[in-house]
Amino acid sequence: MTATQAPRGSYWITTFGCQMNKADSERMAGILESMGYSAADDEHGADLVLYNTCTIRDNAEQKVYSYLGRQAQRKRTNPNLTLVVAGCVAQQEGESLLRRVPELDLVMGPQHANRLDVLLAQVEQGQQVVATEEHHILEDITTARRDSTICGWVNVIYGCNERCTYCVVPSVRGREQSRLPQAIKLEMEGLAAQGFKEITLLGQNIDAYGRDLPGITPEGRRQHTLTDLLHHVHNVEGIERIRFATSHPRYFTERLIDACADLDKVCEHFHIPFQSGDDEVLRAMARGYTVDRYRRIIERIRERMPDASLSADVIVAFPGETDTQYRRTLELIEEIGFDQVNTAAYSPRPNTPAADWPNQLSEDVKVERLRELNALVEQKAKERSARYAGRTEQILVEGLNPKDPAQVMGRTRTNRLTFFPGTRADGSAIQAGELVDVVIEQVRAFSLSGKLA
Ligand code: SAH
Ligand code: SF4
Ligand code: F3S
Repeated sequence: MTATQAPRGSYWITTFGCQMNKADSERMAGILESMGYSAADDEHGADLVLYNTCTIRDNAEQKVYSYLGRQAQRKRTNPNLTLVVAGCVAQQEGESLLRRVPELDLVMGPQHANRLDVLLAQVEQGQQVVATEEHHILEDITTARRDSTICGWVNVIYGCNERCTYCVVPSVRGREQSRLPQAIKLEMEGLAAQGFKEITLLGQNIDAYGRDLPGITPEGRRQHTLTDLLHHVHNVEGIERIRFATSHPRYFTERLIDACADLDKVCEHFHIPFQSGDDEVLRAMARGYTVDRYRRIIERIRERMPDASLSADVIVAFPGETDTQYRRTLELIEEIGFDQVNTAAYSPRPNTPAADWPNQLSEDVKVERLRELNALVEQKAKERSARYAGRTEQILVEGLNPKDPAQVMGRTRTNRLTFFPGTRADGSAIQAGELVDVVIEQVRAFSLSGKLA
């Protein structure tokens, strides 16, 4: 661990995008603190402002520019302000971001998150720095500053080697790089020692874990797979729950489903994006599976874990998507009954094949399809929530309900957010990190309420 250095002023990080970015931000906050920075209370008073950016859709990218505009203006009167853009917009735009916002000190892609200290040292020598070259992600030796003290993220594979025709992730996150099982387990043991109870293993395509690592078993299988990793890390003492995301239907195996059913700590919640309920659209997206294959995965999960909760991501108004094809997406949601679906209208992204196709759909179609889809998703979520009414669920307490400090909040194993009164009959307070049984009394589409059993 690096020694803490002399105080340097305050920092502020705003994080956009997915869990990968959130995990990177926690690492970068840890690095800043080990350099002597302390957390600022206010974005517009901080000495160093870092935006960890997302470019998955155009609106995510545009948000960053409006935030940056305000900081650039502040820098004109306060030249000591250090301005950093990290993450996926940084990777995508590189040098051209400096031309657009010349006040920037540092532009750094996601593969460089662990090098923030080295890059800032270059900035301190008066340079403007751009770090976007392909980089082997090293195990870092600093300690992440984590937002939660109970639930932690652990990266297992960086990057993505797929080529979905709509998606910028492979071009901004680079080739797949799996971490070694020993390193992953060591990080989990460290978190357990600090009192963490739940770990979410992270990867953009987590089922690809290990395919870049060497090793074949005596049976001729790849030695390192997500299934083997789950077995390997399952006995970390103190960790009560293990989750993983994001799964790709193309690589989701029966062995994995069996491991989830057999290993107690692995929670019965699966996030498996299907993107479209139509085979032709799936082919145009280059997803590499059919709707039937997806159905079989879900059937198999429900055979082994009947109460499992299911979530997914969906895109509507992909180029050329007809009304009939779009309706097949609705039908699949109706048929499977998802607990939660993240929805988006297609957004053309730079350097992706689909962005150049002539058959783009109008804004009106996007808005209309998305509206109808969201209504269905909410209705299905409500129906799925109804099954909890009157049941007793095991909840891992994460902390106080920010909207009502008399309550605590936590999640079911199936990942439903649950609220309940934070004191026991004897007046003692329920603490974050406790596993308690809660009788569910009220159900809503995306959350539950109840009282201690
Ligand atoms: N690796 C995951 C998803 C990563 S991106 C997977 O393969 O499923 C998160 C979600 O953003 C995707 O699942 C997709 O639904 C959405 N998305 C990605 N690119 C998009 C685009 N160009 N327009 C709209 N939504 C997009
Ligand atoms: Fe994007 Fe496809 Fe990779 Fe997911 S699997 S990150 S959608 S390219
Ligand atoms: Fe966004 Fe980058 Fe994640 S584009 S969704 S922050 S991988």
